[in-house]
Amino acid sequence: MTAKTHEVVRVELAERSYEVVIGAGVREELPRRVSDLGDGDVLLVHDGPDRPWPAEARRSLESTGRRVVECMLPTGEEHKHIRTVERIWDSALEADIDRRCIALGVGGGVVGDLTAFGASTLFRGVSLCQLPTTLLSMVDSSVGGKTGFNRPQGKNLVGTFYQPRFVICDVETLSTLPREERIAGLAEVVKSAWLENEDAVAMLEADADGLREGDLAATVRAVGMSVRMKARIVAEDEREAGARMLLNLGHTVGHAIEAAQGFRGVRHGEGVALGMVAACRVARTCLGETPDEGRLLALLERLGLPTNLDDHYDARASSHLVADKKRRGGSIRFVVPTAPGRTRLEAVPVDEIRRALGV
Ligand code: GLY
Repeated sequence: MTAKTHEVVRVELAERSYEVVIGAGVREELPRRVSDLGDGDVLLVHDGPDRPWPAEARRSLESTGRRVVECMLPTGEEHKHIRTVERIWDSALEADIDRRCIALGVGGGVVGDLTAFGASTLFRGVSLCQLPTTLLSMVDSSVGGKTGFNRPQGKNLVGTFYQPRFVICDVETLSTLPREERIAGLAEVVKSAWLENEDAVAMLEADADGLREGDLAATVRAVGMSVRMKARIVAEDEREAGARMLLNLGHTVGHAIEAAQGFRGVRHGEGVALGMVAACRVARTCLGETPDEGRLLALLERLGLPTNLDDHYDARASSHLVADKKRRGGSIRFVVPTAPGRTRLEAVPVDEIRRALGV
């Protein structure tokens, strides 16, 4: 296995700084990077044998003489709860793992968030590393140190901030992902580019056909751009007191649409795509901005993402919007897109948002 393209992004957080390695074939770095963390046992957390990456990671670590304890989780957002976290803790404790433990999450966002929460609490914190194998988790959840699980009252309501020691984003692992899942992940890439700058959006426009078809070099460029943008924001605002809230672009309405469909209708990325369309509409109607909506829609459509907001945003979604956790005194802290690289947070009355969206 040879790395064809390779980029290393550093997340600068003083003594908790770490590297995100992005490329095709870069998972070959796993044993070496784990050995930099000491000689503890690896707690390998994943959600199933249907993709080859956990077994491959296990083999590559064991070939260096490392003990690997496997913890297999059930698949799906509905398992993102405390009992699944208990499974992670208990797998380690039942195998007599000690505090030198190195927790490794291999999979998508649910596996990553649960592994990270488990690592942040097991023995009051053990080393954590991530090998994300979905586009969404590469460009968003594996980087930045958010961990957590859901409660009946809502998603990700309990968690910690706990940074990994390294993240390996190997775009070759996306080859076994269903096409629709990979395409849905591109919505977060578009979000990243809109938050970043004109050059990032132009790069996605140039690469759109390759990205839709899963071209490795185009995907490495897109993941690299997204991770660089996120690393910059996390370095500035690790605990989401300001700039990090901008990462919620498209998420307010997107989340309401997802919630209205019981998180089983539209995929998260599809919700984010529709949410960005809604954000442009709110910016125009409520705030008199002139975001380049046509350009955003054209890019989303070329990537195969949905833009037909009116077919998805209904009265049920509207009622979830009202309950949005970011709502304060009748307003929502909304991420307003103006132009690529120019976004801001603004409190927008929820009634005005509903009027702009027609429900
Ligand atoms: N997913 C948004 C964040 O990491 O802040």
